[in-house]
Amino acid sequence: MSPAARRRTVKIAPSLLSADFADIADQIRMVESGGADELHLDSMDGVFVPNFTWGMKIVKDLRKLTQLPFDCHLMIVEPEKYVDAFREAGADVITFHYEATPHQHRLLRHVRETGAKAGIAINPGTPVPMLVDLIEEIDRVLVMSVNPGFGGQSFIERALAKIAEVRTVLDKRNPACEIEVDGGIGLENIERAVKAGANVLVAGNSVFGADDPPETLREMRRRIDATAPRA
Ligand code: DX5
Ligand code: ZN
Repeated sequence: MSPAARRRTVKIAPSLLSADFADIADQIRMVESGGADELHLDSMDGVFVPNFTWGMKIVKDLRKLTQLPFDCHLMIVEPEKYVDAFREAGADVITFHYEATPHQHRLLRHVRETGAKAGIAINPGTPVPMLVDLIEEIDRVLVMSVNPGFGGQSFIERALAKIAEVRTVLDKRNPACEIEVDGGIGLENIERAVKAGANVLVAGNSVFGADDPPETLREMRRRIDATAPRA
């Protein structure tokens, strides 16, 4: 894909982890009005990560509130047990962690069979070459730029080199595959993430914690549009 084509496909996915669930319908409308391309939904089980969020029931209820694609990021052990249920609840992309199952290859295939896009996430401590035998099975690689579990953490700069490394492998073997970056993304680093090769930008605190979330999203879009992705 040419750099220009890739820029057109850069997506911003606000992470509902940082939204106010007492007012969730309004929060979703707010990011829709700012031009969000997807919603990023973090499911945490208190085992894979030291925090809890939500399961399929909440995803299903949220599905009634918006047409935006749901990007479900599963930070749970034994993700194979729940993929079908997340798909039925309304997930469009299902991303599980490389570290959470010994059967990544089988699970990527299964996610695709459900009709969802298959995503695989790697923690900051997991090297990119671990994905080498999975590349053709993946629709989206999620490079974690914080240790998973919480919003509002600082961006780990090393993630940029990992994104570039993933992009190099994908360009050769699976150019349509997307690269998502998650954690500590905001106005100060989105251009660098896009230049490195990311095309799905997750943003929690920088959007929902902003004084004017829709304007922050519009400013993100302006900066993305002004950035030349890596050739
Ligand atoms: C962290 C989650 C992220 C989180 C990002 O484990 O996977 O999606 O919401 O939040 P920010 O953008 O605030 O770092
Ligand atoms: Zn996430």
